[in-house]
Parts: sequence; C-alpha cells; structure tokens
Amino acid sequence: MGNDKLGVAKQAKSDEFYTQYADIEKEMNAYLEFNPSVFKNKVILLPCDDPEWSNFTKYFAQNFEKLEIKKLISTSFATDSKLIQLISQPTLFELDSPQFDATKTKSNGKIFTLFRDKTGDKRIDVGDLEWDYLEGNGDFRSKEISKLRDEADIIVTNPPFSLFREFLAWIVEAKKDFVIIGNMNAMTYKEVFPLIADNKLWLGQSIHSGDREFQVPESYPLESAGWRIDDVGNRFIRVKGVRWFTNIEHGRRHQPLPLMTMDDNIKYSKHEEIQNVGYRKYDDFDALDVPFTDAIPSDYSEIMGVPISFLDKYSPEQFEIIGNLGSYAPDGYSLASKIYLEGKKVYKRIAIKHRNP
Ligand SMILES: C[S@@+](CC[C@H](N)C(=O)[O-])C[C@H]1O[C@@H](n2cnc3c(N)ncnc32)[C@H](O)[C@@H]1O
Repeated sequence: MGNDKLGVAKQAKSDEFYTQYADIEKEMNAYLEFNPSVFKNKVILLPCDDPEWSNFTKYFAQNFEKLEIKKLISTSFATDSKLIQLISQPTLFELDSPQFDATKTKSNGKIFTLFRDKTGDKRIDVGDLEWDYLEGNGDFRSKEISKLRDEADIIVTNPPFSLFREFLAWIVEAKKDFVIIGNMNAMTYKEVFPLIADNKLWLGQSIHSGDREFQVPESYPLESAGWRIDDVGNRFIRVKGVRWFTNIEHGRRHQPLPLMTMDDNIKYSKHEEIQNVGYRKYDDFDALDVPFTDAIPSDYSEIMGVPISFLDKYSPEQFEIIGNLGSYAPDGYSLASKIYLEGKKVYKRIAIKHRNP
C-alpha cells in the first residue's frame, strides 16, 4: 500500500467503530447518580450517530421518558463520505419509508429526531424516531450540523478518533455540555490539557484502565490483536486506553485520593522503588518525582511530577494542576520540555500541587 492509502486505512480504522450499549449506560448512570435530572428538559445531540449502528441513539431513545429528555437529535455521516463502506445498499427501514430517495441515499447524511409519540402507543421510545435526509453529508463541521449544535444543550457521542481535536474544539467554541469518548492520549493534547488544568474538562467515571470492546463493520480489517466474532456474525475489536471526556459533574471527581505521608510511603509503599530509593527531585527542575499515583505523599507542599494516569484519580478539591513536564506543547503549560533524574530522562509527567498538604 502506498503511504496515502495506508494513511486512509489507518484513519478509517480509528473512525469506524461503535460503542457498546453497556459502556454507554454505565457512564450515563454516573451523571444520573450525581444529578438525577441531568438530562431533564434538555435537547441532546448525537452528531456522529446513525441509529442503525449507534447505541448512543438507542440508549437515549429507549430512556427518553425516564430521563425526561425534551428532544433527541441524532445525525449520521453520509455513507459515501465514510472511509469504510458499511452497507452497499440502503437499509430496509430506509427503503420502506415514504421519504426514501435513491439520489440521496449515499451522498446525504440523515437526521433522526425524537420528541413525540408518533406511533400513538402512549410511550415515546425508539419506535417514535422520525428521520429525513440532511441537506449535506452530515459532517459535524458543516453549517447544517453546527446549527443543530447551537440548539442543543448536551452533546454525546464517540466522535471519529482522527478528528478528536477538531470535534472537541467544535463543542467548546459553542460552550456546550458534553460527554464524548476518546483515546487517553488526548489528555495531553495542547487543545485538551489547558481545559483539564482549568477544570473545564475532566475524565468520566467508568473507564480507568484496560481496554473496551467496540463493534466494527463487516468490512473492517481484523488484524489487531484482540478481536472476536459472535454467534450471529457481529465483529468486535478491543481498543486500549479509551476514556470518557466530559464537563458534566459526576461523583468520583470529588472523592479525594487516599494518601500516606512521605515517611509512611517509604516504609510501607507497595512499590519497591519507593521503599528502596525514596523520593528524588529532578536534576534541573525544582519538583519531586512521584512515579506512581498511589505513592503521592500527603505532606509535600511543593510541586510534584506525577504520571499522566493521575488524571484518572484527580480531584480538583485535593490538587491543583500546575502544568506538564517532560514534553513541550505550545499551550502555555509546559514547565520543562525535558526532565532528568540522576542523568536519566523521565517520561512525561503532570506537575501538581496539594491544595491542603
Ligand atoms: C468512532 S465512530 C462512532 C460511531 C457512534 N458514535 C458509536 O459510538 O457507535 C465515529 C463515526 O463518525 C463518523 N464520521 C467520520 N467523520 C465525520 C464527520 N466529519 N462528521 C460526522 N461524522 C463523522 C464515522 O463515519 C463514524 O461512523
């Protein structure tokens, strides 16, 4: 494959995979536990979601009444614009609808709305979704979808990973509430880190380690390590390092990380390194290196460098995020682009300080 083709294939692989219902439900439950009316009277937009595939649409449509949602809007990207072709033919639901239009079926995106009991069964649920073609291809960056964004209160989806930065910027510029799923590497992007440090974005509650299974289309190249095909032929891949990104409150972020004093860590830490060498300061930057989040001392009042995974445990009442160490990003938060411990280069760290040591 030429470089171009390889690039497209890579992008397609990172864009076309579908979140499982249970993962969505678990995360939404965290917001609901904290605030049972979080979705009440809200317009919810799912901008990368065709109900044919998207469990986001299914989840919010199925729970429409329970969550007291005002309106659900789900838009999908035109099949011709997708890098992996999902279906070669229009779906049955589309063919059976009076609005089916052979000239638009591949080139136009679709819009699905839910706000009333269309079927007259005295309930509002998946069966009441109404649909039409969009004027354009459903690109979230288009005027058409941006207008829907402006009308919405909350945006929820698994956006194309290759456009994660752009997608987040698109939400943030409109000052919307959001819950989106992405790769944990995004935490250190120059577009993302300042939002985390300013407490305008944080990680969700339900995913903090390991990998998650996503469904992929039939044409998806199954060459990565963990994949399976279920009894009815659905294909799944396992993706590592996935996280929820949000600006909606949940309980976990207000729970402080349990800590020990520096002396106690040196005596009792489960990390041999801490027991053997204790804590060290960087060679040419004035901060203490703390190589494990669960070894952060409770009684150190100056700057500490902690691993990126600290953000899974971060509580803004307990710590202040000062900046990043060990890499340069032009976001105003880089304190030292390289850090060394006794001559050895240290991988990226986040610089933090106790609020109340
Ligand atoms: C990672 S998938 C997730 C789909 C769905 N949200 C889910 O989790 O089941 C991202 C989806 O966004 C679509 N997409 C890609 N580029 C897009 C764009 N510029 N605007 C809107 N959707 C796009 C892809 O075709 C893909 O279906």
